[in-house]
Amino acid sequence: MEQFALDSGPFAENPYPIFARLRREAPVFWHEGLEAWLLTRYEDCRKLNEDGVNFFPSYDGNPPIPYVQQLSGDPHRRIRKMMNPAFTPRALMDTVEPALAPTAESLLAPFLPTGRIEIANDYGEPMATRVVSKLLNVAREDEPWMVKTADDLLEAEANPTNQALQAVYPKNLADLRAFFAARLDEERKAPSDTLISQMVAAAELNEEELLANTMGMVVAGIETTKRLISNLIYLLVTHPEQLQMVRDDPTLLKPAIEETLRIHSPNQPIMRYAQTDVEFGGIAMPRGTRIYGLRGAANRDPDVWPDPDRFDVTRFLERGLPPHLAFGVGPHICVGAYLARRETAVATEILLKHATNIRLDPDHEVRFVNFRNRGPKELHLLFDAA
Ligand code: HEM
Repeated sequence: MEQFALDSGPFAENPYPIFARLRREAPVFWHEGLEAWLLTRYEDCRKLNEDGVNFFPSYDGNPPIPYVQQLSGDPHRRIRKMMNPAFTPRALMDTVEPALAPTAESLLAPFLPTGRIEIANDYGEPMATRVVSKLLNVAREDEPWMVKTADDLLEAEANPTNQALQAVYPKNLADLRAFFAARLDEERKAPSDTLISQMVAAAELNEEELLANTMGMVVAGIETTKRLISNLIYLLVTHPEQLQMVRDDPTLLKPAIEETLRIHSPNQPIMRYAQTDVEFGGIAMPRGTRIYGLRGAANRDPDVWPDPDRFDVTRFLERGLPPHLAFGVGPHICVGAYLARRETAVATEILLKHATNIRLDPDHEVRFVNFRNRGPKELHLLFDAA
């Protein structure tokens, strides 16, 4: 199969036909731009993601910053163990859950009299931001700056050839670091009942680890959740019969979220380095090889998911399905998965409660961002206030 660009052309417009061709014709494909092998079959992607011994997210297990997602083996387990308790449904019930519905209500309120809303940036993003801010005890007035800086860092990482983004990368990184260093100091002086204070109080993490993992939460928890909220609402609005099913039976919201995660996985690449000589699809890859698994392709593999391009809110009612890969599998499985599902459920419930006859605004074409995070750039809707 021929080479293709990731951030322009047909792939950027709609990657799914290319994923299908890759799975069929070149399930192990050398991508010249990425200088890496791309895997698109479910079983291959799952193995890459699940096996934390033969595949590390960093070249040799010693990443430049000690962020949990980049670490492997014991250093990974140590930090992950410290984070897990704050993200259990029980812990979140006391900390974040009570704020979810009031947050969604207050974000939606100004739009109700207008009958129009842009979901991605005016609803999904602030919803996800408030939650991370709550975990890290970030003041409301610092949120826009924090999100913009984190977005620019992510954009720069996703576009290594964009000179403008690369030029501001070091300053953005230094600014975000300084911001969280100050936050950590404030928590030391006046502890709060939030995750960041627990991280400080645990006294198991040194300053570098605290910084990497507070900043990491901003990068991991906001854009992804923004995309999931937007993807679900987009899919429901463009599949009115499925939306009606969810309105008629609200218990279908949960499987609808899983189906959304499968069909438009917000976070796409599983990036790993082989730690031993490995093999995929009969192709030998020496230790040190960089390999990407594409969650969006794996989650539509017809060998695993019948009629994979069909959005079906009842699909995940079936028991015994294999896991979709949207939150990862294995040691790095998303620590915020339950939280993200709750945020998305509440944001959607509140929208459906207050809005009927929800439809795409014909004056705005829906364009998607694709490779790193899949979701609409903007999602303009019209509705009648209920
Ligand atoms: C829909 C929303 C989300 C999606 C799709 C998502 C996706 C993922 C995925 C795919 C991974 C595994 C990465 C890998 O395999 O290397 C991951 C890890 C992680 N996620 Fe999420 N995430 C979401 C929300 C959140 C939230 C809300 C938080 C926290 C507030 C969070 C924090 C993390 C952290 C800290 C890790 C690293 C865990 C580790 O390496 O052990 N995520 N996420």
